[in-house]
Amino acid sequence: MCGIVGYVGGQSALDVVIAGLKRLEYRGYDSSGVAVLADGGLAAAKKAGKLVNLEKELVGRPLPAGATGIGHTRWATHGGPTDANAHPHLDNAGRVAVVHNGIIENFAGLRAELAERGHELGSETDTEVVAHLLAESFSSCGDLAEAMRLVCRQLDGAFTLVAVHADEPDVVVGARRNSPLVVGVGEGEAFLASDVAAFISRTRSAIELGQDQVVEVRRDGEGGGAAGVSVSVTDFYGAPGEARSYRIDWDASAAEKGGYDYFMLKEIAEQPKAVADTLLGRIDAGGALRLDELRIPDSVLREVDKVVVVACGTAFHAGMIAKLAVEHWTRIPCETELASEFRYRDPILDARTLVIAISQSGETMDTLMALRHAREQGAKVLAVCNTNGSTIPRESDAVLYTHAGPEIAVASTKAFLTQLVACYLVALYLAQVRGAKWGDEVRDVVRELSEISGEVERVLETMEPVRELARSLAGKRTVLFLGRHVGYPVALEGALKLKELAYMHAEGFAAGELKHGPIALIEDGLPVVVVVPSPRGRSVLHDKIVSNIQEIRARGARTIVIAEEGDEAVVPYADHLIRIPATPTLLQPLVSTVPLQVFACELATARGNEVDQPRNLAKSVTVE
Ligand code: AGP
Repeated sequence: MCGIVGYVGGQSALDVVIAGLKRLEYRGYDSSGVAVLADGGLAAAKKAGKLVNLEKELVGRPLPAGATGIGHTRWATHGGPTDANAHPHLDNAGRVAVVHNGIIENFAGLRAELAERGHELGSETDTEVVAHLLAESFSSCGDLAEAMRLVCRQLDGAFTLVAVHADEPDVVVGARRNSPLVVGVGEGEAFLASDVAAFISRTRSAIELGQDQVVEVRRDGEGGGAAGVSVSVTDFYGAPGEARSYRIDWDASAAEKGGYDYFMLKEIAEQPKAVADTLLGRIDAGGALRLDELRIPDSVLREVDKVVVVACGTAFHAGMIAKLAVEHWTRIPCETELASEFRYRDPILDARTLVIAISQSGETMDTLMALRHAREQGAKVLAVCNTNGSTIPRESDAVLYTHAGPEIAVASTKAFLTQLVACYLVALYLAQVRGAKWGDEVRDVVRELSEISGEVERVLETMEPVRELARSLAGKRTVLFLGRHVGYPVALEGALKLKELAYMHAEGFAAGELKHGPIALIEDGLPVVVVVPSPRGRSVLHDKIVSNIQEIRARGARTIVIAEEGDEAVVPYADHLIRIPATPTLLQPLVSTVPLQVFACELATARGNEVDQPRNLAKSVTVE
């Protein structure tokens, strides 16, 4: 939702913080700001718009050199993207600076109380109350970490806070509740950040913080983390806190564009490797599944009588496909729910329910709150996640990581394909431990999965006609997407990509629903993408969707048909035919989604849109 960086060390805090914010800008880019401790005081600069606006500001009005500082890129929640609402926020004396990710739910009452005590608040944000509360608490306890603990005990809501005080030039303090914060420990320097991407170019040693914890990083030259810095973690009451150290398993280059114009293009191209990496280590020499990391005993999995998948956005579409695989391979009932709706429908859950929470970032608040509700009801929760050390895996009973590598572009691509692979593996593993599939049947599907990486590569090699088609449609106002069975979630995903990248109306439908209303939308020249299921799977499904294509074409639609090689039945009705490799029915989304990712990316580019950072969006939505 927002990008946060704190630094204490021996380098220029401004340079380090700005470099870190550049790596986090995908998390929010409505405004940005920095604060630096120098010469016994505190200096800050902040600007609406993208980070480049702040950098221009700093050229004209440089900050004094200092080796302690904090910074922020914002996705606005309370108060518009203006200079005044940009973080960091300071107290009236200008001695405290704080940056925040999340929502302080009781900020209105706190703001009124502060005003009664004479504080003057100049922004529309919830965050600003924290700066004033920290100043008050510091004046009574004289210690920033203790002041942070006192303030956190007054706050309701979700927050990552990082603050500095001019009276403690060697210290940065952070706190987290329901929002990400990770510590980086380098040689004589330490970092606090919402995401390891902020400091991975300087260190791969990280410390994961838990719920309701305060962390102090101090430049003191007395041991602690690396020579020259110390890290101390407590709970909100001062008791020592547990914090897990880990080594980040990808390098800085993974968080770079690697010669591509956009991260999204790079991440689309990385999909064959991401799919292969997600299978690595999970298939034994005999071709059987080995999910040793699944920390739910087989005995418990054998007792599962219902599976519920909870997720948002693209991850939800992966969950819709997971449902089809779970039910087909295990014969266990499976529901897929929008995480934001899940707990409000009073779901029926118990110890025999397995909830699968799918999340690329591992920080999506809707999904986190859904899994918490599920655990409170006694269900087992398995996370499918792409971000090591994030909140959702930490709060689940078990996790199956996707190994897509960092996904920087807001529009999710490689994460989606690897979520599918992970969900297929979970479904197959359930079938394997419950005997719903024989070993040789599991091995057959596993072998087919192992071949998919190469199939995705083949699709990527044939995308130029798709790019040309996308450019030709850049002036259109709407595109519809149709699909059946596994093709229906793919249609929804294709529509979502186009909405979030090209800012145009796009809608996905179950093709069978067309005649129940949506067919009224069909008009002359309207582009309609149709994802056609394999004729080798459920031939009745295939025949029906060919009829759907005829129905819309007869009414003037411009049909864009995605169909497997060798499927000749669609040829007479396709104005544009996009071929994909023939794959098993349930695995088709792994290849049919790719043209839709390329289509949306190219059409958005043709419209001149900012592909990696679409307007109004952020990579991780850490508020409900
Ligand atoms: C997809 O392109 C979007 N970025 C968005 O729908 C995303 O999938 C959703 O917010 C869920 O994010 P998560 O996977 O990190 O939980």
